[in-house]
Formats: sequence, structure tokens, C-alpha cells
Amino acid sequence: MEIYKDKNADIESRVSDLLSRMSDEEKVGQMLQVSYNTLSGEDYEKYKTLGVGSFLHVLGEECDEIREKAASTRLGIPPLLGIDAIHGHALRNGATVFPSQLAASCSFNRELIKEMGRVTAREVCADGLDWTFSPVLCIGRDLRWGRVDETFGEDSYVVGEMGKAIIEGYEDENLIISCAKHYIAYGEATGGRDAYDSEVTERKIREVFLPPFKKAVDAGCGSVMTAYGSIDAKPLTANKRLLREILKDELGFKGFVVTDWENVRSLVTNQHFAENLTDASRAAIEAGNDMSMNTHEFYECVLSLLKNKKIHMSLIDDAVRRILRVKFRLGLFDGKKRPEKSVIACEGHKKINHELARESIVLLKNDSALPLDGDTKTIAVIGPNADDVRALYGDWTYFSHPEPKRDVKPLGEYYTVLDGMREVFKKSRILYEKGCDIFGHENETDKAVKAAKKADVVICVLGDCLAQNGEYRDRADISLTPIQLELLKRLKGTQKKLIAVLVNCKPLCIQYLKENCDAVIEMFNGGDYGGLAAAELIAGRFNPSGKLTISFPRHSAQTPCYYNGYGGWHGGRYMDIDEGNVYDFGDGLSFSEYEYSNLRLSKKTVTENDVVEVSVDVKNNGAMDGKETVMLFVNDVVSSILTPVKELKAFEKVFIGAGEKKTVTLRLDVKDLALVTHGLKRVVEKGEFEIMVGSNTKKYIKDTLTVV
Ligand code: GLC
Repeated sequence: MEIYKDKNADIESRVSDLLSRMSDEEKVGQMLQVSYNTLSGEDYEKYKTLGVGSFLHVLGEECDEIREKAASTRLGIPPLLGIDAIHGHALRNGATVFPSQLAASCSFNRELIKEMGRVTAREVCADGLDWTFSPVLCIGRDLRWGRVDETFGEDSYVVGEMGKAIIEGYEDENLIISCAKHYIAYGEATGGRDAYDSEVTERKIREVFLPPFKKAVDAGCGSVMTAYGSIDAKPLTANKRLLREILKDELGFKGFVVTDWENVRSLVTNQHFAENLTDASRAAIEAGNDMSMNTHEFYECVLSLLKNKKIHMSLIDDAVRRILRVKFRLGLFDGKKRPEKSVIACEGHKKINHELARESIVLLKNDSALPLDGDTKTIAVIGPNADDVRALYGDWTYFSHPEPKRDVKPLGEYYTVLDGMREVFKKSRILYEKGCDIFGHENETDKAVKAAKKADVVICVLGDCLAQNGEYRDRADISLTPIQLELLKRLKGTQKKLIAVLVNCKPLCIQYLKENCDAVIEMFNGGDYGGLAAAELIAGRFNPSGKLTISFPRHSAQTPCYYNGYGGWHGGRYMDIDEGNVYDFGDGLSFSEYEYSNLRLSKKTVTENDVVEVSVDVKNNGAMDGKETVMLFVNDVVSSILTPVKELKAFEKVFIGAGEKKTVTLRLDVKDLALVTHGLKRVVEKGEFEIMVGSNTKKYIKDTLTVV
């Protein structure tokens, strides 16, 4: 029996045996991923029997057909079927749609994020697929960028922790592999311009953008995706330093690297880095890309490079070895057992989704407005996003990908804010008016004001829409659209109690909303249960615990406005707008007040090899049990290069009963206080470090740690 067919043989032996049997065509075929929507019909059919390594965006019975065709090839190497299941298996109508990454990150709940990964893996695998192009480890620091919703927010530590958690969830049952993307500093492009150039040094990459990918590699993620853009004018697709030398050699990444969509072609058509596809294919492989997403000419180009001895077979073998290793690990050669399709959107998954929606939603303002009395007679629910499932879901669902679908009927259970209010406030009379659409093509603010005048309370649901977010959709102006502001002002004019619920992909400039509403709730894209969680929060059914993982500027020009910037700005503000942000990273209210006291460190003088236990007492002074995320920030008081005025180094979310005081202990590894020198060395400098432990970036108690 051939070793590669022997399921009892070890993976490396199976890979080597199979590789030794493969022709050049069969090897290069494994390095190509194709999708039906970039190929003409007959071409697509051709690739099904050619033995390509992977297909993307196939669903349902097409998975079986593709597998059968692959099984009929000479060596019967199974393909990897990949899909963007980035907040649940959401490209499949009827599967669980979780809150977006940005929304879910506000839960600060590693365990729930891991569960989100596990649930998604089960549904993706049950549906016949093997690979999710998730998590996004980009850092949402420039709010003009169109893909901020896909990030876990503005802080590198949070992005790394959430990325690690969801990768563990995706991969720990060996059902699918994950994909850490987009490598690297994709969201940092100048001007927030998608797929443009990021002017970041290797030092900055190592300090801010690489740590989440290191955590992903250490968590065992099966693949990494190369970003579209360029770093200091070197396309990432051709960036050997970052891909091969740092990711593969230095971090020891053993999975495989897939390019993003048509990156090889972009080297020719967009970035004008290569004269033709053959040169582009060679540059991509030499830089460290193991698989090309689309650019199907890649196949012929690489075969011609081999024939003309323009590329070393060792690079091809290394790429194919990495891809085969994953396929063997997943059990694809051995008749993989998949969960029953009945797991898709099963009750257990719905429960986890609902819990995550509750822990993710953020109460930003509450001037004694909430909870609302359950017997409130009349409630008006008004606004463009009050009853819009597309807004509720956000990007990367069956509405938007692989192609936009206008009128498709959702097959799964979901709650818009209107659905949630009707479900929770059954005894109240619920009036509903859309009032307008996001752009003002529809304008029925008169009807909305009329409804508001009949109500005791107005729930105003505003935000943004899919057309304002995603690839190619960066915004110069991230304000609420004028029609929404007009609607809000007119509702304010009714003098009714005004509760704002934001259903939006990313932070918007909401100074007027903050100043003029009695309560403000931020949901971002809350997923199937976002609207229900909003209504349950309004009714006081649970104690909110969400906190922002991203800051909200006063003005679009104020971005980037992340909390962990450096000192040294003359005056500290723009002269033509008020100082500071509208909301900051870490903001989020509860119905309880949490009181911090008695901060103590297990050691106050340390060396870089120490780990310090940082303990604090936290008392829940409220009448409801609750969960509180305790945050630990550090400030390197004097440093040989600028370091952030404060930076998150640890957080723990803990349950604290009503009236209970609990000691919370956070672990601080002194090595995590390192900065990255211009010599690219990670160094913990001697001297004082301020340790700040509290609820957010403004409410904390301080102590000092000295490194000797
Ligand atoms: C896209 C995205 C990437 C996604 C891929 C496959 O254009 O940039 O995040 O995974 O193509 O859909």
C-alpha cells in the first residue's frame, strides 16, 4: 500500500511519499485556488478535474461534486474548500450569524469568542467545507478604512487575544483550518485607503502589527493570507522579508500562505511591480506565497517557470508540502467525518450567539433613562436601522458575498431592534416608523415625528449601511448622514425621552447624539440576536458588560484617534474642535457601579524574567449581578523611544454578584513591557513603569513597578 494512503502512517511520511509521486502539473495544481465567479463556465469545469488545491465560496452539493471530480484524478488529492465564515458561517443563508468581529470584541470575553469559533467550525464543516478565511487580525486604527468592522478594534493586545481565542475555537476539534489575515498592517494604509500603501517601518510592524500574528502562529492557525497592499512601497505579495524571513523562518509558521483575491494579477495590473503574470507568479512564490487565490493563469506560468528553470523546485515542494500537511491533518484523505447538517443554527448555537450578543452590546450613556419600565404604555421605534436585517448583520453575509443579493429572504431566526422591542415589551404599544433611509432617498420624518408625539419613549435606531462599508468603500466623512441628524433633531424637538441605538459597522462622529439623547447603546452589527439583546438591555433583563474596543472621534479628520498614542502633541488638540474623543476605548456602562480598591503587586522591583501578580478588589455596588472587565494598562515612564501614554497589557472579565467584593488578579509578564528598538530588538528597559488597573482608560488606580 502507498504510504500516503496509510492513515496510520505519520503525516510527514505521508506528505513525503505523496510528494515523491507527484508530477510538476500535480504539484503546481495544488498551489492554485479557484472560484467559480472568476472563471468562465468551461474553464471552471476544467479546473474541477485538473486537481487544483482549493476552491472558494462553493456551498452545499457543489462541495460533493467537486470532491468527486478530485477523487477521480490520478492521485485523488482532495481539495480544500474555503469560505469567508468570519462571523459565523454567514455566507450560507440559514446558518448562525454572529455579531461582527468588532461587535464581538466588545464582549472582552475570550471564552465566548472561542465558542463563536467552535460553532462556526461545526457549521462550516457540516456544510462540506474545510477552511474559513478568518480571523481578521488587522487593527482598526484609521476609521476612514472600509473594513474596520472586520477588526477586533484598535488595540493590538485585544486583537491578539481575540484572534488566539477564535483560532483555538476554529481548530480545536480539527474540523476546519483558520486563516490569520491580512498579513500585514493592511488597515494602516495611508489615508485609510483600502489596499493602498502602509508607511510603516519594520520596527512599528514588530511593535504593533506582528504580535497578533505571532499569537495566531503559536495557536496553530493553519493558514495566513497575504494582504493586498504594500509596506513602504514593497507589495506584500512580493515581500520576502515579511513573508518568508519573518513569518515562516522567525515565527516558525508551519501552515501555508494564501494570497488574497487576485494578488498575483495585481502585481501586474495595479501595483505595476511585474511586467507579466509569469514574473508576478515567480515573485509571489519566491516571497513565500504557497497558494494563489484566483489568477488561474498562475498554473501555466509556474509550469513554464519550471520548464525554463526560472524557479527552484525546492520552493514548489515546500509550498506543496505545507498544503498537503494541512490536508492530511484535517483527515481529508481518510474520508473525513463531518457533523450532521442539523447542527447548523441548532438551539445550542443560538444560545451561544444570544449570550455573545448580550455581552457585546455597549451601554454608552444612561441619564437615568434605563431600564425602561416594563409597563411603559407607548414606545415609538424609529429609524432607518430599526428593522433592517442587512444593517443588523453587516458585511460578509449571504446578502453581500460572494455577490451582492438584493432581495433574498433570510432563512434563519433573527431579531432587528423592532423585532426585539415587540418581543420584550409585549404589554406596550409599539409604534414603528422608518423615518428615512441612510442616504435620504426616502424621507418620512414627518410621519416619524407624528409617531413620536404619540409615544412615552422614543427608541431611535441609526447608523450606517453596507453601501458605506467594505472593500473599495472607505469614507472621508464618517458622520451620521445628514438625514439621520435631521431626524434625530426633530425627534429631540418632541421633548420625549430619547434612547439612541446605534447599528453601524464602525465608529461614527456622534457628538450631537451623545449630547442630546438620554441613553446611548452601541451594537455595531449585532448578528441574529443583536436586536433582542438591545431590547433586553433597555428592559433591564440583564446587566450590560460590553466595553468599546475602538474610539469614536468628534470629527472625521480627527482619525486616527486610538487611545494608545504617544505624548508630545503641542496643545493636545485641533484648534477647531473640542478636545478628545466622543467615546474612548474601554468605555461602557453597566447598571452597577464597580468600585476598585486595594491595588497590590506581588513584586514592585523586578527583572525582565519576572511575572508579577497584580491584584485589585472590585465591588459591585449595584442591585444586579454583573460582569466587569478589569483592565491593566502600563506606561513606560521614561523610554529610549516613544512609547504609548498608556497601553493595555492584560484584561480579565469576571462575574461579581450584587453587593459582592471580589479580588481579581491579573498576570503581568515583565517581558510584555518590552519596546522594539530601532535595532529591531525587543528590550525591557530599566526604570519605572506606571501600572494602572481599572474599568477603562480614565477610571483606574495606579501603582509603580521598577525594573532593575
Ligand atoms: C477578499 C478579501 C478577503 C477574503 C477573500 C476571499 O477580497 O480581501 O478578506 O477572504 O477575498 O473572499
